[in-house]
Amino acid sequence: MNILILGGGGREHALAWAVMQNPKCDKLIVAPGNAGIAAIAECAALDIMNGTLVANFCEENAIDFVIVGPEAPLAEGVADDLRAAGFRVFGPSQAAARLEASKAFTKEICDAAGAPTAAYARFTEAAPARAYVEAQGAPIVIKADGLAAGKGVIVAMDLETALAAIDDMFSGEFGAAGAEVVIEEFMTGEEASFFVLCDGETALPIGTAQDHKRAHDGDEGPNTGGMGAYSPAPVLSDEVQQKTMDRIVRPTLAEMVKRGTPYQGVLFVGLMIEDGEPRLVEYNCRFGDPECQVLMMRLGAQILDLLDAATDGRLAETQVNWAADHALTVVMAAKGYPGSYDKGTQIRGLSALPETSFEMCFHAGTTAGTGDQKGRTLATGGRVLNATARGATLQEARDRAYAMVDAIDWPEGFCRRDIGWRVLG
Ligand code: AMP
Ligand code: GLY
Repeated sequence: MNILILGGGGREHALAWAVMQNPKCDKLIVAPGNAGIAAIAECAALDIMNGTLVANFCEENAIDFVIVGPEAPLAEGVADDLRAAGFRVFGPSQAAARLEASKAFTKEICDAAGAPTAAYARFTEAAPARAYVEAQGAPIVIKADGLAAGKGVIVAMDLETALAAIDDMFSGEFGAAGAEVVIEEFMTGEEASFFVLCDGETALPIGTAQDHKRAHDGDEGPNTGGMGAYSPAPVLSDEVQQKTMDRIVRPTLAEMVKRGTPYQGVLFVGLMIEDGEPRLVEYNCRFGDPECQVLMMRLGAQILDLLDAATDGRLAETQVNWAADHALTVVMAAKGYPGSYDKGTQIRGLSALPETSFEMCFHAGTTAGTGDQKGRTLATGGRVLNATARGATLQEARDRAYAMVDAIDWPEGFCRRDIGWRVLG
């Protein structure tokens, strides 16, 4: 099988690493990729937001199967364009990707499906939104409807912050994403992520994880895309997973079928769990980053068979082979992230790192130097590396991951030292 993966972050490096290990993978191209991916697969410069260009590329490179990593091309309809051109694609249609691209749409689906989630109201104007917040009081959660690169949610602990968030959203700070605003009840509990493959009809759980959103140790500092993750998440016990499947995932998929927009792809189910009862925080239409890194470490080569089965509607006859193991990933980011940071700094020590089925340093924002920087690995992004490891216990996985971190020589980078604290302290 000739495979194309769209994306160039740590998520896509982990996907590429796992897919490559499957003997069914004959050739792998990743667009645009990064310096780490370039060491294991061919990387191609390609505008992944343009379905026509991607379809032409698939034609020229005899691609049999496309795996879409990030949400932006899915929300743009790139999977639809590729399917229309006759290619097999893992990833939802534009209509189904609305489960991530529109928070108001997701709320509507939850209502129709009877799925437990926060109480809410929707607004297209500031005055009634302000009045609603004043009536409800704080804490309260203000969300821009559309995709806002993870910045469209304000958890307001006081009224002043909530009102300011409403004004910011309606003044166009979030562009078209803020044209509609969803205001939600503040939910308490423990957050965790549940990943389910869907083939339109059937849903197959492929793992649980917990992320660390804040930039600094002790969950201090600003929110980020995620500074580390581990799998499994103990709070998502078998019983809670079962409740999530019965009350949230299956009714959602049935509602999507009913509307003529079945969901095919991975559904990232963001949950709040309190007293063993799961409620939906959000859906994403893609793997989490860095959650994907720990899932791929645990699933390995079988992921290609699973994605293939989801694409062909064969999940009902498919099983996941689980090892009783744990995985943990530590994100190394450029100092200053998620604010401003230097680009082009050199990272040393990467070539000496172990690369085994137990430990891999996945790359996110890296590039290979050119000209007088040739032979060097340079940091180009905010989140740059993911030291990822597996072990019989979470402690073993954590020790292995931090041993990699400590072997990396990158003075301009930083990481949290407490990934996994909920379980390990
Ligand atoms: P979202 O993009 O919807 O996942 O929101 C980002 C983060 O905001 C979530 O991961 C939660 O930590 C928090 N959040 C979102 N909605 C709520 C809610 N209704 N109650 C409490 N926290 C929330
Ligand atoms: N790590 C959270 C996300 O991928 O949305």
